[in-house]
Amino acid sequence: MLLETETITQLDIAKIRSEFPILNEIVNGKPLVYFDNAATTQKPRQVIEALANYYEHTNANIHRGIHHLAEKATADFEATRRRIQKFLNARLPEEIIFTYGTTDSINLVTQAYGRAFLKAGDEIIISTMEHHSNIVPWQMLCEENGCILRIIPINEAGELLMDEYEKMLSEKTKFVSVVHVSNSLGTINPVAEIIEKAHAVGAKVLIDGAQATSHIDVDLQALNCDFYAFSLHKLYGPTGMGILYGKEAILNAMPPYRGGGEMIKEVTFEKTTYNELPYKFEAGTPNIADVVAAKTAVDYVEKLGIEAIADYEHQLLSYATDALSNIEGLRIVGTAKEKVSVISFLVDGIHHQDIGVLLDQQGIAIRTGHHCTQPLMQRLGIPGTSRASFAVYNTFEEIDRLVTGLEKVKRMLG
Ligand SMILES: Cc1ncc(COP(=O)(O)O)c(C=O)c1O
Repeated sequence: MLLETETITQLDIAKIRSEFPILNEIVNGKPLVYFDNAATTQKPRQVIEALANYYEHTNANIHRGIHHLAEKATADFEATRRRIQKFLNARLPEEIIFTYGTTDSINLVTQAYGRAFLKAGDEIIISTMEHHSNIVPWQMLCEENGCILRIIPINEAGELLMDEYEKMLSEKTKFVSVVHVSNSLGTINPVAEIIEKAHAVGAKVLIDGAQATSHIDVDLQALNCDFYAFSLHKLYGPTGMGILYGKEAILNAMPPYRGGGEMIKEVTFEKTTYNELPYKFEAGTPNIADVVAAKTAVDYVEKLGIEAIADYEHQLLSYATDALSNIEGLRIVGTAKEKVSVISFLVDGIHHQDIGVLLDQQGIAIRTGHHCTQPLMQRLGIPGTSRASFAVYNTFEEIDRLVTGLEKVKRMLG
């Protein structure tokens, strides 16, 4: 089998691993193998220290204070906004709204944009492979205002049927909301084409980038989507913090989502006027510490280089795909041509949950179940899968341990 030293990568994986303290954990007597990165990535020491540093040296509420700490906290908070603007190549920092995660970002769009601009009979297109976070908020909106949800089908490999998508588009289509990268299958969707075709009929587009920003280069101005949502905890950053990108003109036209705090200009009992972007959408005290530490996470990713990360993860994916395919009775679910380092699989006669439990006993963390994509599982005719998802700190040796672990599970239960 391939040794780690034989890989061609500019990245020093041993050094990277040494920066993630949690990778030293012993689980059930074995060194941890963490293959649940699609759920959340682990955090480098730099991010953990940035969080502690914020609470030790800066902690204050932002925007309203005139004392030293409040000014410092505000400056650090706003520095993250500019950092993320650059990272994603958004046009303006005001187009970057801090939310609590992808789910929160999508709900902001369905509630603020959807309620104001979508009406009964308007069609909203999503796809079969959406995460529940990009299904349920749209269903709630449809129930409320009578919009119609249409679903792009997929093929057996887990790729969108683009012909069917094109057939669905009409002057009735007012919104398209699709996932950039599938969390269950790893499929990278052709979002540039999806956006262009939606715009041709005058529809707005949201891209759920929860699984994309840690694996592929995202250039928002090149993509030209109207909204883009993602969570920092899947990008080596803290939990409880996400981004909604929106084009300035659209965000300006939208009513606010939540009321209170920094989102006002002036309040009287007769009438309230609202703040400018981005504050109009940031009601209440935000998650300041996590926003501040998120900048360190983005710095970290940029220092490694997203292309170098993608290249290395692709090697892991190819290696794991070959190795797992050699296991008798194992079937990979999701074989799209364009994929990130996510592998869902089934093993004949063994329930995915049993696989997860028995691998955990060997110190290997994977995820099992429907991965919050129940309609996708229904389409595939399966209750769920086992899923191994790789990040930049994973190694070929760890994949060997997964293979050995699965062979053991088969001997025990097969
Ligand atoms: C594709 C996709 N969309 C949305 C989400 C929801 O993200 P969060 O729980 O951070 O809001 C996830 C999380 O797994 C995801 O994978």
